[in-house]
Amino acid sequence: MSIQIDGNTTVRELVGRYPQTRKTFEKYGIDYCCGGGRCLAEVAQERRAALPDLVRDIEAALVETSTRTATAEKDWYAAPLHELSDHILQVHHAYMHEALPRIKELVRKVLNAHGAHHGAMLRQVSDLYNALDTELTNHLRKEEEVLFPYIVAAEAHRQGGPKEPPACFGSVGNPIRQMEAEHESAGEVLVQIRKVTSGYSLPDDACPTFRALYEELERMEEDLHQHIHLENNILFPRAIAAEPD
Ligand SMILES: [Fe+2]
Ligand SMILES: [Fe+2]
Repeated sequence: MSIQIDGNTTVRELVGRYPQTRKTFEKYGIDYCCGGGRCLAEVAQERRAALPDLVRDIEAALVETSTRTATAEKDWYAAPLHELSDHILQVHHAYMHEALPRIKELVRKVLNAHGAHHGAMLRQVSDLYNALDTELTNHLRKEEEVLFPYIVAAEAHRQGGPKEPPACFGSVGNPIRQMEAEHESAGEVLVQIRKVTSGYSLPDDACPTFRALYEELERMEEDLHQHIHLENNILFPRAIAAEPD
């Protein structure tokens, strides 16, 4: 561990350099993707957590991982942007394309089976989830068809490759701002789903499908956090910084 951690350390600095701290932030319910620029003192106060406890848990996560050898994740601050883009597409976009329709079907099944006793709550989950599905499907397409190919082509051009790609959107910061706003909105829908389900607490009469639905929604939330972190905190700032004035 080579970093001094205190109330002024930002969430982004920690989670960017030390991905193993994500679990600690998840544990405290701290947003490390959209709200990653905030300092520990601020997020601890917001979550009504004691700052020394939070710092201690983060330090423990760092020490624990530094004693293991095979857990090092790639340094995405240093890797070429095309590698980071490929990683996001192959891991996180592929997961979303597979999980979005599958979870939609689970929501439908659970609403059908448990509508009589939990209809009001499950209809809210269904409405929120369907909105998220539409929003994320459009969002992924924009990144896959426009933004990521542009970032990769611009990097290839800077390294002496083919001519500069045409940018119909002006500066790359413009579509990035739009993507960040969409991340915020998707994250907010997942917060709402968590609220409506009382933090994914299963009712006593829940069947295995009900349980599977909650587990899958929680997994989607976790994956989306990591996905947005890689884009908001690393890929997008690096793409903006690399753009010539
Ligand atoms: Fe993405
Ligand atoms: Fe995104």
